[in-house]
Amino acid sequence: MIIDIITIFPKMFSPVIGESIIRRAQNKGLVKINIHNLRDYTNDPHKKVDAPSYGSGGMVFKPEPIFNSVESILGYKINPLGGNKKSTKKLKNKFDRIILFTPQGTTLKQKVIKKYLTYERLVLIAPRYEGVDERVRKYLVDDEISIGDYVLSGGELAAMVFIDCLVRLIPGVVSDKESIKNESFENSCLDFSHYTRPAVFRGIKVPLVLLSGNHKEIAQWRKRESLEITKKKRPDLLIENNNIA
Ligand code: 6GU
Repeated sequence: MIIDIITIFPKMFSPVIGESIIRRAQNKGLVKINIHNLRDYTNDPHKKVDAPSYGSGGMVFKPEPIFNSVESILGYKINPLGGNKKSTKKLKNKFDRIILFTPQGTTLKQKVIKKYLTYERLVLIAPRYEGVDERVRKYLVDDEISIGDYVLSGGELAAMVFIDCLVRLIPGVVSDKESIKNESFENSCLDFSHYTRPAVFRGIKVPLVLLSGNHKEIAQWRKRESLEITKKKRPDLLIENNNIA
């Protein structure tokens, strides 16, 4: 998979994509992440990428540098005839997906993330200020994503959250397949409790079943735990997925 990020703050991304699992995934050749500075794609002599919102208001990203950057990254023209979104779709490679990070987008959920594993190339647009010119939303992007009901000062952190969640799901990135199968949000439940050594800490004991070596009983205990924790902390997950026992 190739992930291209369009941003005016390329340096924000380097520490996140250069560490831990995301770095390992790149080193293994399982994902390639390219960061593009939006300012490199403007025809403006002062490299300005924003302008005031028509009618009054804050600054908005202009359509020109964003269209230019996406077209340059993907290597083909989007909407060259000024047609509508439908005609744009026909020209596009169906394995490419253009995503805009915006509070107006679909809230990111584990299920939403998984859908993106089927694409070969993702172009992520991380805006600032009041967002982007509406023509970008209407004629260029395929999907709009938000990471929750609160306001960030830009889409960069949201794009990083998206990348982190996605990359670890690419087959071969996380070696212990079990850990992905059992983790929170899989099967619409939160993860069960984990304990490690020592078996007794300040007089507090680890549940005996975990020390029993009986894998069947441990699996049953974990399943029960997972359901109990979800009922207590996030009952909405069970209702949402009709999983109420
Ligand atoms: Cl994607 N962008 C901004 N600016 N704020 C957000 C967000 C995105 N998701 C949640 N809040």
